[in-house]
Amino acid sequence: MKYVIGVDLGTSAVKILLVNQQGQVVREVSKTYPLIQEKAGYSEQNPEDWVDQTVAGLSDLLKYGDCRPEDIEGLSFSGQMHGLVLLDENNQVLRNAILWNDTRTTRECREIDEKVGRERLLQIAKNLALEGFTLPKILWVKRNEPEVYRKVKTFVLPKDYVRYRLTGQLHMEYSDAAGTLLLDITEKKWSEEICRLLDIPVELCPPLVESHEEVGTITPEIAKATGLSTKTRVFAGGADNACGAIGAGILQDGKSMVSIGTSGVFLSYEADGNKNFGGKVHYFNHGAPDAYYTMGVTLAAGYSLSWFKDAFAQKAGFDELLADVARVPIGSNGLLFTPYIVGERTPHADANIRGSFIGMDSSHQMKHFVRAVLEGITFSLNESVEIFREHGKRIDTIVSIGGGAKNEAWLQMQADIFNARIVKLSSEQGPGMGAAMLAAYGCGWFDSLQECSDRFLRVDTIYDPIEENVEKYRGLFHLYREIYPATAALNKALMKYRD
Ligand code: XUL
Repeated sequence: MKYVIGVDLGTSAVKILLVNQQGQVVREVSKTYPLIQEKAGYSEQNPEDWVDQTVAGLSDLLKYGDCRPEDIEGLSFSGQMHGLVLLDENNQVLRNAILWNDTRTTRECREIDEKVGRERLLQIAKNLALEGFTLPKILWVKRNEPEVYRKVKTFVLPKDYVRYRLTGQLHMEYSDAAGTLLLDITEKKWSEEICRLLDIPVELCPPLVESHEEVGTITPEIAKATGLSTKTRVFAGGADNACGAIGAGILQDGKSMVSIGTSGVFLSYEADGNKNFGGKVHYFNHGAPDAYYTMGVTLAAGYSLSWFKDAFAQKAGFDELLADVARVPIGSNGLLFTPYIVGERTPHADANIRGSFIGMDSSHQMKHFVRAVLEGITFSLNESVEIFREHGKRIDTIVSIGGGAKNEAWLQMQADIFNARIVKLSSEQGPGMGAAMLAAYGCGWFDSLQECSDRFLRVDTIYDPIEENVEKYRGLFHLYREIYPATAALNKALMKYRD
């Protein structure tokens, strides 16, 4: 039997899967690392933590002896998107990585609007300038840390850096490059025009490869530290949302997915890069060759729930916290939550908005708050679903992945709020499975990712919308939508009180 490894470098942890030729996960390991938040709106990580924990995780994965190291033919990656890793001429890291959920760059976004122009940016990069993307972060460092910027030779994204440390080879692949705002999405090359207009040398941009492309093998040093073989082939991998989509079989027109991890996304497959959503949703290259996807992003999806647990129910496990959710009626007894705890992206690209609980009542208990948090996250994702429907997309079936697919009550809630059939896969492993599939395809086990998906992915349970619930949620969603305009000015005024 042969195997592949999928490494999913997430925001809270790295999750590593050992997968056999049938697509079965033989072993799974996860290792956490901290988030560094020096100020409100800042979110950083130390790239060395990613490398240490990936190496520790790989070494754990191999120590069970499920297979011989030389039977692991390939390894690939999925990674949190947009994070800026700056490297000097010796490929040494120059500062902490600035992550996708860091919102310090509003000024730089306006600078991009001004110098490139929103229309031109949409034509080239297919996306508007948002705080989370990589380009505004580069401009922030240039403005605020000139002594660091002077030493920059190149930049990469989180998983690219880990892959570099595992192989000694430095690349970026299209699905993640698309999230930098520097890529010409349809031409699949770095935009010299955007670089010129913002006075960034195009030479800072690393060489581009396809997600399933082989970029090297494991170095002897890493082989020694992990137990991997130096013959294991390493493939470039993809952005976590692209890999989540591959791992959920979103490989044809008409397929869509909802992923609830730290962030939440509603994502839809696109066969080409030429549709026009006017920048209302993100438009990126897929990890599948020459395909694309569009998506709306809720910045704090699972993160809202973990924040709530850390702040108010630290001792509870997630299962305990969610145990009573199904027994609370729809609408959480008149309590609504907006998940804007780190700002928002879709449909309100607003770094200053913050979350609310509306309708708190002395009868409310912990379980009402927990249900309200789940409902609020799902309402936020439904705003993205609505944008797609308004643009003529038919959305009747959605594959659900990530933490949101682990709880029955939440899966039914998704069916009822999205008014669509929700599919849960038995092979559900989030983006790590997509990374493993890229390695399997790269190794030549299959002629296409679709063929791999047919072999690897299986449906577990279907959740159909319940008409009575759909009706109730429709009314609540109406109210939910009123919270943003009603609280935007209040939150702006509160900004000066934030650290
Ligand atoms: C997508 C985004 C997030 C991260 C999470 O644009 O910023 O979904 O990819 O890792």
